[in-house]
Amino acid sequence: MQEQLSSLLAKASKELQAIRTRPELESAKARLVGPHGELTALMKQIGSAPKEQRPALGAVVNQSKARLQALLDAALARVDDAELAARLGPPIDPTLPPTDAGPGTFHPLTLVREELCRILRKVGFTVADGPEVETEFYCFDALNTPAGHPARDPQDTFYFPQGARFANVSKRRPDERYLLRTHTSSVQVRTMLKRPPPIRIISPGRSFRRDTTDATHSANFHQVECLYVDRNVTVRDLKALLDYLFEALLGPGTKTRFRPHYFGYTEPSFEVDLSARHLPRVNKEWIEIGGCGLVDPEVFKAVGYDPEVWTGYAFGMGIERLAMTLYGIDDIRAFYQNDMRFLKQFAGGL
Ligand code: DAH
Repeated sequence: MQEQLSSLLAKASKELQAIRTRPELESAKARLVGPHGELTALMKQIGSAPKEQRPALGAVVNQSKARLQALLDAALARVDDAELAARLGPPIDPTLPPTDAGPGTFHPLTLVREELCRILRKVGFTVADGPEVETEFYCFDALNTPAGHPARDPQDTFYFPQGARFANVSKRRPDERYLLRTHTSSVQVRTMLKRPPPIRIISPGRSFRRDTTDATHSANFHQVECLYVDRNVTVRDLKALLDYLFEALLGPGTKTRFRPHYFGYTEPSFEVDLSARHLPRVNKEWIEIGGCGLVDPEVFKAVGYDPEVWTGYAFGMGIERLAMTLYGIDDIRAFYQNDMRFLKQFAGGL
């Protein structure tokens, strides 16, 4: 019996080593330990042995049974591993660089921003830059919107705590606060303080407002600002530039109109609407697109320009609104979700 058990174990060990699939394992298991299996047959022999030998035989059989079970467990583990490896496919090296996804494409907001700059460069504008963290002076005070002014209220927005420090943005007064700029108009002030007139700049960039996000609002959005300072600048120059700009961007047939409005930094001030019925998905005559006006003499005084000598116009508008009109996009959130299906549609450029 002892010998039979040993040879059974040796045979099982050899057989089980070779097993790789679950059906093979199942049939081996039935052959070895199943009700009609070889071990079961040996166990049955115990009953026919002399009574005094039975306990010893039982112990030997139990040992063999445990050993056999261990062999089966090991074979099962190998089958599990083989199945998992088959599902996972060929091994990969995660430290290798990713395969080349091809060249990237420009974001639609980038396309529109660059096109605006290109169009205005042709008529003598240069790009000016300013920080996204501003002080109250550049964002409001120098733009004739002092503390407590009602026009400041809708823009009263993301202020930093009093102790916040930004080494690259210096304060004019120790008690003024830092904030995320609410508009790019602050770049007007920065530019005029840096250099004498004449000035002709375009300044695209991020702006931040206390807006709740919906299909047409985002607390973080993009604007372009334009400022032109020279002698004898009139509303006619302003209107002519905006007509040129929008026609170049949106195509022939684009019209603009002014509606009287109030901005602290311009006098007179207007809201600008544009009409572009030729664009797909434009379904109303006039779309409000930005604000503009002639630079208020108070702004010139704040930056040390003589308002008796210098005149100018300024305007500002949201890039998202323009891009939505141009491409027929109906939800501003599409710009920020990084959905490749959306972004890939702009791979061909403007
Ligand atoms: N800063 C205004 C805004 O964010 C837009 C604007 C209006 C800019 C009139 C200007 C301007 O330069 O003259 O709503």
